[in-house]
Amino acid sequence: MDIVVDNLSQVFGDSSHQVVALDRVSHRFPSQRFSCILGPSGCGKSTMIQIVGGIEPFTGGSVTIGGQDQAGQPLGSHSVMMWQHLNLFPWRTVIDNVAFGLEMQGVGKSERYEKATRLLASVGLRGFERHRPPQLSGGMRQRVALARALIMERPIMLMDEPFGALDAQTKIVMQEELARIYERSKMTVLFVTHAIDEAILLGDEVVVMTARPGRIKEVIKVDLPRPRSQDMVNTPEFGRLYDRALHLIREEVLSSMRQQEEMAG
Ligand SMILES: Nc1ncnc2c1ncn2[C@@H]1O[C@H](COP(=O)(O)OP(=O)(O)O)[C@@H](O)[C@H]1O
Ligand SMILES: [Mg+2]
Repeated sequence: MDIVVDNLSQVFGDSSHQVVALDRVSHRFPSQRFSCILGPSGCGKSTMIQIVGGIEPFTGGSVTIGGQDQAGQPLGSHSVMMWQHLNLFPWRTVIDNVAFGLEMQGVGKSERYEKATRLLASVGLRGFERHRPPQLSGGMRQRVALARALIMERPIMLMDEPFGALDAQTKIVMQEELARIYERSKMTVLFVTHAIDEAILLGDEVVVMTARPGRIKEVIKVDLPRPRSQDMVNTPEFGRLYDRALHLIREEVLSSMRQQEEMAG
């Protein structure tokens, strides 16, 4: 299911104070590919994937998924979202957190537990089914959230800086696990990040955005082989892609700092 955004704009605020979060963004996110959206803070990354997920309105343009215009479509029929802040239910067991979406759909307990148990094993949490989120480490909670999203079996996974709050070592492990899960799946992934290395390690393409108002500055194709692993970070090809992205991002960060100086002074 290709995701096509065409001339997509989002302006927040009223006529006295407007924030242009997205300014006529057009892109085709290819079906079953892993697209990373990279850009400085405040450039409209979250706004974009929330619009694609149908949980934010937009002021101009269109979003088409699998050829179908998304205006007026029921929420969440194609996609599931995973955030940095997990919104796990602390009072529910791990398995009941993971099975929550199926429970809401009225799926019986044995079927949803069977699926949840299988998914928990696939994210390395066998044996933790009866624990509660406060008993787990940050990385383990992130795995629960990943399993909770995967259980919905939606063709599109939207991820907004899901590993942003993890320590560096845990982040590396989670990135490799996500790459492995993606490579075995047929999901289309949109993954928001402001980390250049993460975008290149995970993505088939890196969509680099400009500082506000958010536009697409350049799309970098990432032809690194799969399966991906952290070892690739030291290859010349990775270095070349990293330098390209860094150059683009540096320009945007400097321009956003200038904007702020102008506003202040
Ligand atoms: N609900 C909102 N009301 C007003 N402004 C908003 C709202 N949501 C986001 N913005 C503004 O839109 C811009 C883009 O925000 P966001 O998409 O969250 O950026 P990013 O995820 O790239 O950091 C920011 O300037 C932000 O302050
Ligand atoms: Mg954001």
